[in-house]
Amino acid sequence: MDKWARPTYTPCLPLGDNRSLITGCEKHIALSRKAATEGTVLLKNDNQVLPLATGTKVAVFGKGQIDYVKGGGGSGEVHTAYIRNIYQGLKMKKGKVEVFDALSLYYQNYVEEQYKQGKILGMFDEADVPAELLNQAKTFTNTAIIVINRFSGEGFDRKNDGTDNYFYLSESEKQMVETVTSNFAKVIVLLNVGAMIDTGWFAYNDKISSAVMLWQGGMEGGLAAADILTGDANPSGKLVDTCAKSFDDYPSSEGFHESEDYVKYHEDIFVGYRYFETIPGKKDCVVYPFGYGLSYTTFALSDITACNVKDHILVSVSVTNTGAFHGKEVVQVYYGAPKGRLDKPAKELCGFAKTKDLEPGESQTLHITFAIEDLASYDDTGIIAKSCYVLEKGTYTIYVGTDVRTATIIDYTYTVSEDTVTKQLTSYGSPEKLDKRMKADGTYETLECQPVKRAEFLNHYHCAEKPEEKHPLLDVANGKVDLDTFIAQLTEDDLFYLLGGHSNTGVANTCGMGCLKEHGIPPIMTADGPAGVRINPNTGVLTTAFPVATALACTWNLELVEEIGKAGALECKENNLSIWLTPALNIHRSPLCGRNFEYFSEDPFVAGKMAAAKTRGIQSQNIVACPKHFACNNKETNRVESDSIISERALREIYLKGFEICVKEAKPRMIMTSYNIINGVRASENVELLQGVLRNEWGYDGMITTDWGNHACHAKEVKAGNDIKMHIGYPDVLKTAYENGELTREDLCICVKRILEMILWLD
Ligand code: BGC
Repeated sequence: MDKWARPTYTPCLPLGDNRSLITGCEKHIALSRKAATEGTVLLKNDNQVLPLATGTKVAVFGKGQIDYVKGGGGSGEVHTAYIRNIYQGLKMKKGKVEVFDALSLYYQNYVEEQYKQGKILGMFDEADVPAELLNQAKTFTNTAIIVINRFSGEGFDRKNDGTDNYFYLSESEKQMVETVTSNFAKVIVLLNVGAMIDTGWFAYNDKISSAVMLWQGGMEGGLAAADILTGDANPSGKLVDTCAKSFDDYPSSEGFHESEDYVKYHEDIFVGYRYFETIPGKKDCVVYPFGYGLSYTTFALSDITACNVKDHILVSVSVTNTGAFHGKEVVQVYYGAPKGRLDKPAKELCGFAKTKDLEPGESQTLHITFAIEDLASYDDTGIIAKSCYVLEKGTYTIYVGTDVRTATIIDYTYTVSEDTVTKQLTSYGSPEKLDKRMKADGTYETLECQPVKRAEFLNHYHCAEKPEEKHPLLDVANGKVDLDTFIAQLTEDDLFYLLGGHSNTGVANTCGMGCLKEHGIPPIMTADGPAGVRINPNTGVLTTAFPVATALACTWNLELVEEIGKAGALECKENNLSIWLTPALNIHRSPLCGRNFEYFSEDPFVAGKMAAAKTRGIQSQNIVACPKHFACNNKETNRVESDSIISERALREIYLKGFEICVKEAKPRMIMTSYNIINGVRASENVELLQGVLRNEWGYDGMITTDWGNHACHAKEVKAGNDIKMHIGYPDVLKTAYENGELTREDLCICVKRILEMILWLD
């Protein structure tokens, strides 16, 4: 097959076994189901009501059993051949569980009626259950299941204002819970949600014995739920977010909807468990801590040792399955830096590993290693050394366990005898308008608001001599001519054209780039998104919907996430799409962010590791991964104009950290900047973050794309090294800037070169 045959000719060449289609194939759907079960978090299981004993009769309450939310809306949407809901999933477990059909069918009619009225999936009230049906259900069984679901999507945030009840149960849901708990002896709750919501209502209710966080589990989510309920699968998911007692307990809540124009990140580095485990009195606000999750079996950790190997610490732990059910356990390693002059979280995750499926009595030793320099804190004000990562002197404590709260101190400490700078960096992206930030004691440090002089960067590009004969891009691939010489033959108009996106070819629906026929540059198409390849269903192509990113992160299984990356990449390839616009790794800062489901976690270490695993899987198939949205896109309301006002330290330790891990570990070929503004500068024009941090400090050598249709100036983006403007560019803007001398040919060539390098990397 010729190089770029797929993007050029869009052939119909299936990639499955015996020339069968790989897109939406059984194998990928089975992988999706496996990931959905493995990301499921068992939150409560009093009296071992779960797994259900064989033949248990159940009455299922809640529209969510029919109106199953497989994932969120927008770029995270996936069009599939089917979506298996919870009722259907349970019905497939014939002989293992018996469902009171009349009740489920009553909900089915109700949901169909709501859809007919134009109501949106996951966004309508609960139905009242007629007294007679309730009585029949009670006669049928004493075991009830309550399903609660939530939907959110790109471009809007959720609220808790009475008209929209996201975090808390709505009145109709409360009514349903009251009815069920007063009529059934055994009550199980299933949560079909994209990220954290209220859990206190069942955690502290003795009438509810079990609760399962299903997340939004993709196209087989209903069957995966049934796998868990019947014990065909043992939940091994662990929370990647803290479940707090009330919405107001999250430190971001106070200002989340304060303004459409900005978000002040006053809590600074104290996001998620870094807040709840550190700030005095806040531990009591936690219902379920970060890292938490039960199993149908029990595990014991033993023989915990740690040692210093060169510049790393190696922790070894033996895990034994001490119960009667086969299962997997996740071991988490946290560190506590000494209380020094820089405020520090009490605990921070620095490593984790998951066991294989252990049979009862079986043991496995896990080895977890992390770099000592990763325990350093960023000093943005110069208390010790300005713009440096610093290991403050003192004792670094290591905690090992199966969630952040119960992880215990091990018999090993690492001591630093004097304050040590591990990295001297430069002050980039600092705030002008941040008035205060939280300290480790919960009080606020007042900050001075003052204008910041931004750094300038020179674009270095040496224009080559124009070759005598004309060369197509293939000549570069074949080594006949170098890339700079190829670029030398392009006119300025060619360069303006290449710096913007172009219309769809084949089944693409998110546009592409390249497409300069006279120079042999093929059309290179993109596809969303984090939960699976999003192709317009009008094409007739239906793909695999995997569980949402939150669920994938809850698996804590990097190999599995890598496999999903590979599977999705193959679906891209089969459909002649070259760039998969995933993973998305913004931070779960507030429960109300409309896109939480697309993102992994409140913790940048988990987010970075997951993103790296997915990127590795994708790029192993020569498909480009595109981690997004760089950075601080943690709110959807007015996302194209909202200014994320944030300290440099929080930026580096929390909001950029995941990207840093992903870039350094997995070398993505593309990164997408976010729509929002960061401390007064639009993300895609932010030369300090793009050139200073991403390229210079982290050594990123891939290309950078804007988000689709942002509000930034194309010329400023080129100057900043945001290589391409999607989904369309503005050649006229570039031409004017070039003619005015604001942009040089070098500026244009440097971005075009990175785009062409990406294209050359493709098959
Ligand atoms: C989203 C991106 C997405 C792009 C293309 C934008 O609205 O923010 O995440 O990849 O559209 O669909």
